[in-house]
Amino acid sequence: MTSEKPKRRQRYTGKNPRHFAEKYKEHAPERYASDVAKVIAKGKTPAGMHRPVMVREVLGVLALRPGELAIDCTLGYGGHAAELLAALQPGGRLIGLDVDPIELPKTEARLRALGFGPDTFTAIRTNYAGLARTLTEPADVIFADLGLSSMQLDNPARGFTYKDDGPLDLRMNPRRGQTASALLATLDESGLAALLLENADEPNAERLAHAILQTPVTTTTQLATAIRRAGGDDDAVRRAFQALRIAVNDEFGALEAFLQSLPLCLKAGGRVAILTFHSGEDRRVKKSFQSGKRDGTYSEISDDVVRATSEELRANPRSRSGKLRWARRSATTPWSNS
Ligand SMILES: C[S@@+](CC[C@H](N)C(=O)[O-])C[C@H]1O[C@@H](n2cnc3c(N)ncnc32)[C@H](O)[C@@H]1O
Repeated sequence: MTSEKPKRRQRYTGKNPRHFAEKYKEHAPERYASDVAKVIAKGKTPAGMHRPVMVREVLGVLALRPGELAIDCTLGYGGHAAELLAALQPGGRLIGLDVDPIELPKTEARLRALGFGPDTFTAIRTNYAGLARTLTEPADVIFADLGLSSMQLDNPARGFTYKDDGPLDLRMNPRRGQTASALLATLDESGLAALLLENADEPNAERLAHAILQTPVTTTTQLATAIRRAGGDDDAVRRAFQALRIAVNDEFGALEAFLQSLPLCLKAGGRVAILTFHSGEDRRVKKSFQSGKRDGTYSEISDDVVRATSEELRANPRSRSGKLRWARRSATTPWSNS
């Protein structure tokens, strides 16, 4: 006999829950479907959920066929993955990767509940920087939707949001590496200013770095307050969180390793599509695809970025900064001819 007590839901003051943990209905969309639908209809993302961006455009450029092998390098909530899996049937397979050990098991369970068994779908907790080591065969299609999921962003315990107080953590895998507050403790003013400039194009990097390092900063609120005291607005706060997040997770290092490994991981004629959310990411993807086109690695690449439609922007404001680029690997490559 077990003596486990049923979990009590979080108490909250006022008519509606305001904080992430209090929104118990949003955390259980299978039980409260109509309440969750109302949140989505208001253009908001329910707590504990992520709404996939530019799904139609992604499916359009990837042109999946039944029986193919596809890789979703950033599984997140599994919104894109569910659509890719459906388009690959009958007979296709999807391998989904994510570094996040907290969200990945939930997403795997969600996709299994949709009927995708182990012969069709495999989930692997790993960094896409090592894609070439993860795969045992090249894929027809590779997809990546860079950055953070809404589940990560909205959960104050993970330290990604300045809208709620929480530990200044910012690790996508909280079991590995250094937190953002530990990183801050190792930086001097010039090091922090360089990080703010390089990772988030912060125009007042030196002034903000000076202000941030006046006192130890260990929480999200302390960081936001230090920036505001130095005259920074919400955008400056957002940029500082972005810059620290990129550093803590070595996001540019991972992206560059991933871009370099793509030709090895794609079959001849295979397609790749990457969704980026800020200029540092988009610049790297654009350069890599352009240089691959010049040296014959890719036979075709997107001329321009694809953006969300105005209809999607209204329905999901988080799609605002999304930029989609794609490339097709050549049928013959310089190294396969030699
Ligand atoms: C924008 S979300 C993806 C959302 C997903 N497309 C969906 O429809 O739900 C990005 C995801 O990529 C993961 N991620 C970020 N960097 C990663 C990396 N280097 N390797 C593997 N996963 C990564 C994050 O943990 C996050 O879950």
